[in-house]
Amino acid sequence: MGAVLRSLLWCSFCSLIRGVPLLLYANRRDLRLVDASHGRGNATVLVSGLEDAAAVDYVYAQGLVYWSDVSEEAIKCTAFNRSGGAGGVATQTVVVSGLASPDGLACDWLGLKLYWTDSETNRIEVAELDGSLRKVLFWQDLDQPRAIALDPTRGYMYWTDWGEIPKIERAGMDGASRSVIVDSGIYWPNGLTLDYSEEKLYWADAKFSVIHRSNLDGNGREVVVKGSLPHPFALTLYDDTLFWTDWNTHSIHSCNKVTGEDRREVHTNIFSPMDIHVFSQKRQPPAATSPCTVKNGGCSHLCLLSPVKPFYQCACPTGVQLLEDHTTCRQGATQLLFLARRTDLRRISLDTPDFTDIVLKAEDIRHAIAIDYDPVEGLVYWTDDEVRAIRRSRLDGSESQLVVTSQVNHPDGIAVDWVARNLYWTDTGTDRIEVTRLNGTMRKILISEDLDEPRAIVLDPVAGNMYWTDWGEIPKIERAALDGTDRLVMVNTSLGWPNGLALDYAESKIYWGDAKTDKIEVMNMDGSERRVLVEDKLPHIFGFTLLGDFIYWTDWQRRSIERVHKRTAEREVIIDQLPDLMGLKATYVHKTFGTNPCAENNGGCSHLCLFRPQGVQCACPIGLELIGDMSTCIVPEAFLLFSRHTDIRRISLETNNNNVAIPLTGVKEASALDFDVTDNRIYWTDITLKTISRAFMNGSALEHVVEFGLDYPEGMAVDWLGKNLYWADTGTNRIEVAKLDGQHRQVLVWKDLDSPRALALDPAEGFMYWTEWRGKPKIDRAAMDGTGRVTLVPNVGRANGLTIDYAERRLYWTDLDTALIESSNMLGLEREVIADDLPHPFGLTQYQDYIYWTDWSQRSIERANKTSGRTAQ
Ligand SMILES: *[C@@H]1O[C@H](CO)[C@@H](O)[C@H](O)[C@H]1NC(C)=O
Ligand SMILES: *[C@@H]1O[C@H](CO)[C@@H](O)[C@H](O)[C@H]1NC(C)=O
Ligand SMILES: *[C@@H]1O[C@H](CO)[C@@H](O)[C@H](O)[C@H]1NC(C)=O
Ligand SMILES: *[C@@H]1O[C@H](CO)[C@@H](O)[C@H](O)[C@H]1NC(C)=O
Ligand SMILES: *[C@@H]1O[C@H](CO)[C@@H](O)[C@H](O)[C@H]1NC(C)=O
Ligand SMILES: *[C@@H]1O[C@H](CO)[C@@H](O)[C@H](O)[C@H]1NC(C)=O
Repeated sequence: MGAVLRSLLWCSFCSLIRGVPLLLYANRRDLRLVDASHGRGNATVLVSGLEDAAAVDYVYAQGLVYWSDVSEEAIKCTAFNRSGGAGGVATQTVVVSGLASPDGLACDWLGLKLYWTDSETNRIEVAELDGSLRKVLFWQDLDQPRAIALDPTRGYMYWTDWGEIPKIERAGMDGASRSVIVDSGIYWPNGLTLDYSEEKLYWADAKFSVIHRSNLDGNGREVVVKGSLPHPFALTLYDDTLFWTDWNTHSIHSCNKVTGEDRREVHTNIFSPMDIHVFSQKRQPPAATSPCTVKNGGCSHLCLLSPVKPFYQCACPTGVQLLEDHTTCRQGATQLLFLARRTDLRRISLDTPDFTDIVLKAEDIRHAIAIDYDPVEGLVYWTDDEVRAIRRSRLDGSESQLVVTSQVNHPDGIAVDWVARNLYWTDTGTDRIEVTRLNGTMRKILISEDLDEPRAIVLDPVAGNMYWTDWGEIPKIERAALDGTDRLVMVNTSLGWPNGLALDYAESKIYWGDAKTDKIEVMNMDGSERRVLVEDKLPHIFGFTLLGDFIYWTDWQRRSIERVHKRTAEREVIIDQLPDLMGLKATYVHKTFGTNPCAENNGGCSHLCLFRPQGVQCACPIGLELIGDMSTCIVPEAFLLFSRHTDIRRISLETNNNNVAIPLTGVKEASALDFDVTDNRIYWTDITLKTISRAFMNGSALEHVVEFGLDYPEGMAVDWLGKNLYWADTGTNRIEVAKLDGQHRQVLVWKDLDSPRALALDPAEGFMYWTEWRGKPKIDRAAMDGTGRVTLVPNVGRANGLTIDYAERRLYWTDLDTALIESSNMLGLEREVIADDLPHPFGLTQYQDYIYWTDWSQRSIERANKTSGRTAQ
């Protein structure tokens, strides 16, 4: 809108001054003003470049024009200069979220409010002129609401509904005293306008091609224009003249408002005539006093006009309750239902009966699944299995942050421990249950075994337990202490896909929803008294939560959120026809309950405080070890890495701690392992995937460094000086080398090599050592470039776990055929048996005074004095 347009506008306003009305109409791509007396005069474009403007209205005294755009699903506004000068005319978006088809719009020029209808969300809403303090006034019994007209002087609003039961309704502008005033002889009531001075209601019906009028209560109905109009759409009035737009004639027509005579075409060749209003101060007469103008009627939030004494009512934004004093609103909702949809998050206030869902403004949500809430800090937590992350944000979706981003596959369940300030989640991809602090630090794997398809997880911080569901081969509901110990199967019969789980702390009950048996069941927390609560019309339960007396759930097939009263089993639909519903969480916004010793000073723990029924259990994130005081975690000087099934685990050599799994995903069968101290990375070969991979000790930055041309890479070692990776492949009969990132790969030894197995490096001296299993088993040595090969130990069985004691300059190995652990000097001489009579020694490593080995048949890790072989501790 430039200056040229402004001056044109100025001209148009001149005619107003002469007492001739201007017509303001929406033309889909623009808004225009036309002089109603000019006959075929040209229109002035007020706003151009619009997508699909439908409804339009204005507040004359404020110099504001509002319109709705049904394609952009928005309500916008622009200022006009009543003195005709060129001036700041920025277009503003006033309402944008939660609109679908805002077909009707009306401005309350006395109370300074915006009212609109939406024929898709089937709501009528009100807000301040800037779009704030938005409130849903009507959400029931609306089918296709369209035109809306206000009578602020009398406090009434009127709207048309062209749905299944066509009607015109009236209500107070505060939403009270709603009634149907016209419901016969009406089919497509499109246009609606009011004659304030003569107290008449006019409407145009596009099906019956008529314009009728009635008294403001719907009585005294009269025909103004008989069935002869092609397709009247919107209607407006000025003095004695009615004006309307017509979709078929693409024109604006007029006639006498009483007789229907004196019909004229006011303006033609309109691209797509939509809503229309006479644009004049006379249509919006100011009032001497209006109850809302003085101190907002004493209201803390909205002051809405009303037809009954005291002619206004205080009201609160959607979802917020008005307090007993009838003037003050609560500080937001007290109970909320959070909902994860595939691509957005929503919240629904449970305080008010309209259950309007509000989209949180968190961005880049691609496949949200599970959602939980921390009432202490007021943060929402959710998982996204496309972004592969756990995220959190404020209540309104602002300030969103990534909490956990690495080693997250299909995080289907999430739970906040609001007492100890920890976050728990299940992952059906990694098949683990893990914990971190709420900010994502200090991560620890709690359970990584015997999880098939873990989904829902709920916590009982007061008792120190967690419960989860598993919808795998043997569906079950399990329980463990919050540190993952004392695992117990609670239910493993008559379950299918137990998707949802909720605890009723007050009554010590566990509820669950099953998407295969299509039931909601309940039992006591000790597993007794299991019974069915709901078993019909539950096609596919997914999300599940409980608050107060109600259990809420989402259903994939019904695309609904429903709730059931836990005692009366009475059901109610909260949201209908909303696709992609995933997890949900009903919660108090601020109220928490219960505590445990972790609440105070983190239970004395330096890192994680995990509460168990027996008391506090301090725990350490991956890489740290708990020392003897049982509360402090330290970085251990040495640890042992070993592979077990699909896990790579570590165990401290100092603190005698429980071994922990490193959070790696996709490991199939780890064989050789090594560690690069300089950058804290582990390297391993996978003989099922036929790859060599590496990752940081905390599980992040996993990458396959060698992916091709491997068969059975059973031996591998890191050259920490040269930054090279060496490996021996029993299948290809090669020893190869590459840079640590897999680049510059080279075969070092391939001739006369029969099943090379274990590999050890002595970078300081420049030698590599390996064992061969077939032909004549032996231990060989060569320079680290593969030259100068010699056999050091010729008469040996299948030797494994070759390791070097760099301090004492000795080699150690296990012999699978003799079940011995042997040692020699670096030339293969001075051989000694260190340990004999071992069941099935396999892997071997050495640290300080000890050797450590794994035993296959014992499934254990053993330790012995490296010189005496004595195993005494
Ligand atoms: C209307 O616009 C056309 C084209 O811009 C112009 O030729 C014509 O003179 C205008 N008519 C009036 C009445 O301003
Ligand atoms: C409106 O136009 C008048 C006359 O040009 C000018 O003085 C005034 O500042 C303008 N007002 C606004 C709000 O732009
Ligand atoms: C994460 O939370 C823990 C515990 O509240 C705190 O000690 C630590 O400083 C936080 N770290 C970051 C990066 O915010
Ligand atoms: C079910 O759980 C019980 C009790 O823990 C256990 O004894 C039984 O083996 C389980 N059944 C299956 C099929 O896992
Ligand atoms: C994991 O460790 C590496 C190196 O020690 C570090 O750069 C990275 O930030 C850590 N990642 C996480 C998620 O803690
Ligand atoms: C290991 O055994 C040797 C020889 O018996 C002995 O001298 C040494 O003290 C032992 N080391 C430890 C740590 O027990």
